[in-house]
Amino acid sequence: MAQVSSISNKHSPTAKSVTLKISRFNPEHDESSGFMEFNVFYEKWTTVLEAILDVKKHFDHSVAVRYSCRQATCGSCGMIINGKPKLACFTKISELDSNVVTVEPMNNFPVIRDLAVKFEKLFDTHQKIKPYLIRDDTELVSDEKEFLQTPEEVEQYIQFANCIKCGLCNSACPTMATDSSFVGPQALAQAYRYVADSRDKGKDSRLKMIDDSHGIWRCHFAGSCSQVCPKGVDPAMGIQLLRGYMLGFRS
Ligand code: SF4
Ligand code: FES
Repeated sequence: MAQVSSISNKHSPTAKSVTLKISRFNPEHDESSGFMEFNVFYEKWTTVLEAILDVKKHFDHSVAVRYSCRQATCGSCGMIINGKPKLACFTKISELDSNVVTVEPMNNFPVIRDLAVKFEKLFDTHQKIKPYLIRDDTELVSDEKEFLQTPEEVEQYIQFANCIKCGLCNSACPTMATDSSFVGPQALAQAYRYVADSRDKGKDSRLKMIDDSHGIWRCHFAGSCSQVCPKGVDPAMGIQLLRGYMLGFRS
């Protein structure tokens, strides 16, 4: 399944070349995945996503890849790049320091085709932990009352609010690789985000949802989720802090 080509119209005096290996797989008719190889030219600012899009534009438009914002905001372009979960739009080829760039679909997600994976389970699980402020009163939706927080109260959860739902943490998680029912670091980190918010009153229902054999206790604290997050979220720490609520050390 190998093919070698070059994007000549991208060639400039400062461009270097790299071999881009793209995983190809269509579950409708392929028994296993294989790689197609392209010789692509890049500048020091060229991202992996731009190289893939050049391949689509000049050689094979059927390469399936999901992307939207191109600025590490929408969370769409996660994939395995040279063995590590990364955002393709946030990874420069020059930073990889390799003559070969291999791109594969994220681990622990069903493949739709090539680099595109199904996000349904991540979104379903995210929805189940009730990712919004819960209160009994109606004041939250009123224009007349503000729910002020101190900087210390905001500090409790703010890094977790940066999650873009890219799924890289779930892709890196060794527990997700062995237990497809595990709720996963993304949803657990978001459960912490709302439980730790002083305006929220939904702690009990969220803790109940994750107090399960495939829930918070399944995490073995490998910490790989926190290593790959492109937004500085630390799901492993959030999980440990959530356990503090479960065990009554925090309230
Ligand atoms: S916690 Fe980080 S790696 Fe996980 S989904 Fe959110 S932004 Fe992506
Ligand atoms: S395209 Fe939006 S995060 Fe990469």
